[in-house]
Amino acid sequence: MNAPLPNIPLVASLDAEWRRLDFLVWCLSRNRQGEAVGEAEISRLRELQAEVDALRAPEGAWEAALGFGLTHIEYDILACALGPELEPRLGWAFQNLQAGAAQPWATRSLIQELLALDAAQSEQLRRALEPGAALRRRRMLRVDQDDPYRPITPEPWLVARLTGRPLDVPPPPGAVAVDLVAAWDELVLPPSRLAMLREFLLWIDQRDTVVGQWGGQKVGGPVALFAGPSGTGKTFAASVIAHALGWRLYRVDLGRLVSKYVGETEENLNRLFDAAHGQPMVLQFDEADALFSKRGEVKEARDRYANMEVSHLLTRIEAHDGPCILTTNLRKQLDSAFTRRFQMVVEFPRPDAASRAELWRRLLPPRAPLDPAVDPVFLGNAVALTGGGIRNAALHAAYLAAGQGCGIGLPHIAHALWRELAKEGREIAAQDLGLLAAHLPRELLDDD
Ligand SMILES: Nc1ncnc2c1ncn2[C@@H]1O[C@H](COP(=O)(O)OP(=O)(O)O)[C@@H](O)[C@H]1O
Ligand SMILES: [Mg+2]
Repeated sequence: MNAPLPNIPLVASLDAEWRRLDFLVWCLSRNRQGEAVGEAEISRLRELQAEVDALRAPEGAWEAALGFGLTHIEYDILACALGPELEPRLGWAFQNLQAGAAQPWATRSLIQELLALDAAQSEQLRRALEPGAALRRRRMLRVDQDDPYRPITPEPWLVARLTGRPLDVPPPPGAVAVDLVAAWDELVLPPSRLAMLREFLLWIDQRDTVVGQWGGQKVGGPVALFAGPSGTGKTFAASVIAHALGWRLYRVDLGRLVSKYVGETEENLNRLFDAAHGQPMVLQFDEADALFSKRGEVKEARDRYANMEVSHLLTRIEAHDGPCILTTNLRKQLDSAFTRRFQMVVEFPRPDAASRAELWRRLLPPRAPLDPAVDPVFLGNAVALTGGGIRNAALHAAYLAAGQGCGIGLPHIAHALWRELAKEGREIAAQDLGLLAAHLPRELLDDD
């Protein structure tokens, strides 16, 4: 179901790294058997070294894949950590070299021996694996402890990025995965809004060109604000964007995050963003209005404190290097000082009759037997629901029909609409169903 990552899989182009490791493994095995490495081997090693140097150069394959450069020893560690994952033969070889090891991963002691590091180089190796060093800060590797006999493994996102495989990892703290696979042609929105969503995608897709090649200013984000009533497709649109990127969508309830942990909020957000950093994911923050308590409405000291914190939260979101989508049901109350901070503000309107017809067409189960009277245009004209309401009603009608062992007819739809309208908790009458009122099963009316 997952589309490939936008990056071209780079495993193939890293082949020289694996061939060098193969050769180093062979040299080490011979060395351990007391056979000296001769001139021929050393010159072969030089050739292989020159090949990997090209991959590690600023314009090389590694930097293209990662988006940033590393030092030589860091690339060596990375190659050793990734080798068993990307080239199984290296996993077997590493395991054979580590007597009794129950896993294929290289340990620090193996890397030291494989690369024949002297004391000073071994110290560099140790330092490069410390928590504050680039490999760890960038969350590229997992190292259990400062223990030379513990395996060093690559983080799943790194493997996913290099192979183009989908990433299957637990959600970042405070977020839940939205596993909705949605495509552009399923999204029913006015063309202007669809155009804005595609432009938002350009901020991610074309960043290498604009920032990398053209020297454009590097800003965080991109951050979009989706504003509109509940059920108008904000989450659905966020899923379309995530799916178009081949990334996953994670949702965070900001209202809960902000109210639940007043003082700790910042720390919670930091944890979330640390885990999200560099990962192929789209973050959706629901109830973003928690961030926008309108300025000038500060009544109490506590509110002022909350406002300061809230503006800090927004700064933190903006600083995150990755797509964020904030959603809110309230458009009117938004202060333009806030909306100006986003790369894009998209309003999600309630669907008009034509859009509702389109939504009925898409949301009635595609292979369900339909009574010919079930005409999407007629349904679109009958009741002014949002897409979310239509989705619920269409499914409920389908269950009613399936329960009766027949196709979906207008009475099922009228029945389902009645239930959907009743959810809003207000008094409802048959005429709320408009043209469908005549099809409402009598017993539903008698019930009340
Ligand atoms: N504009 C739309 N286009 C297509 N489907 C929609 C649209 N709006 C709502 N839906 C349907 O209703 C469901 C609920 O909408 P959702 O995206 O959760 O709304 P929101 O996030 O705005 O509250 C979606 O999963 C989708 O099936
Ligand atoms: Mg939503």
